[in-house]
Amino acid sequence: MREIGVGLLGLGVVGSEVAHVLLHRATRLSEQVGAAVTLRRALVRDVSKERSHPLPPEMLTTNPDDVLAADDIDIVVELLGGEQPALDLIRRAVSNGKHVVTANKEIIAKAGYRLLSLAAQHGVDLRYEASVGSGIPIISPLQQDLAANEISAIRAIVNGTTNYILSKMAHEGLDYATALRQAQDLGYAEPDPTNDTEGIDAAYKLAILASLAFHTPVRPSAIYRQGISALNPKDFTYANELGYAVKLLAIAKRQGEALEARVHPALTPLDSQLANVDGVYNAVQIEGDLVGTLVFFGRGAGGQPTSSTVVADVLTIARNIANGGLIRPRIELNRRIPVMPMLDVETSYYFRLAVADQPGVLAQISRVLGEHRISISTVIQKELDPAAQTAIIVIMTHPASERSVQAAVTEFTHLPLVQEVSALIRVER
Ligand SMILES: NC(=O)c1ccc[n+]([C@@H]2O[C@H](COP(=O)([O-])OP(=O)(O)OC[C@H]3O[C@@H](n4cnc5c(N)ncnc54)[C@H](OP(=O)(O)O)[C@@H]3O)[C@@H](O)[C@H]2O)c1
Repeated sequence: MREIGVGLLGLGVVGSEVAHVLLHRATRLSEQVGAAVTLRRALVRDVSKERSHPLPPEMLTTNPDDVLAADDIDIVVELLGGEQPALDLIRRAVSNGKHVVTANKEIIAKAGYRLLSLAAQHGVDLRYEASVGSGIPIISPLQQDLAANEISAIRAIVNGTTNYILSKMAHEGLDYATALRQAQDLGYAEPDPTNDTEGIDAAYKLAILASLAFHTPVRPSAIYRQGISALNPKDFTYANELGYAVKLLAIAKRQGEALEARVHPALTPLDSQLANVDGVYNAVQIEGDLVGTLVFFGRGAGGQPTSSTVVADVLTIARNIANGGLIRPRIELNRRIPVMPMLDVETSYYFRLAVADQPGVLAQISRVLGEHRISISTVIQKELDPAAQTAIIVIMTHPASERSVQAAVTEFTHLPLVQEVSALIRVER
């Protein structure tokens, strides 16, 4: 039986699980492939570190060339994370004729197309199923199973950390700081949570999904981004009364000759599937013209779920090697669809305003909205603080352009009776 060698770059949360699966399911995996799939060695920083699934010491190395240049390794699995040195190591692996599997969304979002071109030049495969949604298969369905469709929209919850925090704020009334601390205590959030809480991670994943779905390069820097740190538990309560949940959504939609691409908190109808994705779970909703609406749902983080998709990629490549051919999905980014400026995007909005409790205040607010062609669907007075003579007003609008809404917000801040625009959240139906 032919042997196909696998080398790991990284043996952390995901790498350890991948190594465990490759070693402990070797017989079954090899039967599926028709060749022995053998883990040869793993690159780490510190060979003496204690690991959840220890490997024999002779399989550990701190020298990248022991993996990248080894004759007995056909497939290199990059599980270091971060941009460097991971990007350079992937380039070197490909240039040395190795097939590559990675779970690294940052690298694929920023440099995926160039890496795929490099892989094509060297006649090797580069797979990245685990880069979005951890254990949820979504890259391969977009490339293969949905290929006949014109995709019109993607709406996704792709960051488990923020979804956990938002679930805690919604169901337990926690404020943002407390919910974040709990997520950090449980290991769901990093000590520096910025990448997650500011939507950076979600934007990387949306860039990958949107590029594949709309066949156009979508750079992460072109995606509008707003994080969750300014959200207040009050808005979860009011949104719920109005029939909505608050979620960090990654949204990409075809709008004529352009594309909307944005990551921000959004009010989502309570009876929608996305509103009911709680905790660290992820979900990706795709609208295709033939298939209709599909939702891919599952655990969005963790070593085991991620090992499921990483090993699946390894097996796909191993099967191709065993069959003597390379079946690589063609990456057709042959369209050039520009991302719309956020100011041109139209959506409905939720406002929370702190206003003086005086006659005429609603008339002033309505006048400003009317002048900016923003029509109101619901107005509710929520609370009154008699001592401060302040009222809270919640307004839901019909679809309006972001440009008009931002102009109205600026004008509100100049109205003597409006003390504060306390919240402005977009609505995604
Ligand atoms: N964790 C998840 O739930 C999850 C889910 C989906 C995708 N991913 C992606 O999977 C990848 C790996 O994530 P992870 O959570 O497994 O990371 P991790 O636990 O931090 O593990 C990183 C591993 O890489 C090694 N490493 C880092 N820098 C190195 C260097 N310069 N030279 C040699 N070795 C180096 C570390 O070695 P030492 O062990 O010696 O320190 C460690 O074994 C990332 O791209 C991540 O975004 C993770």
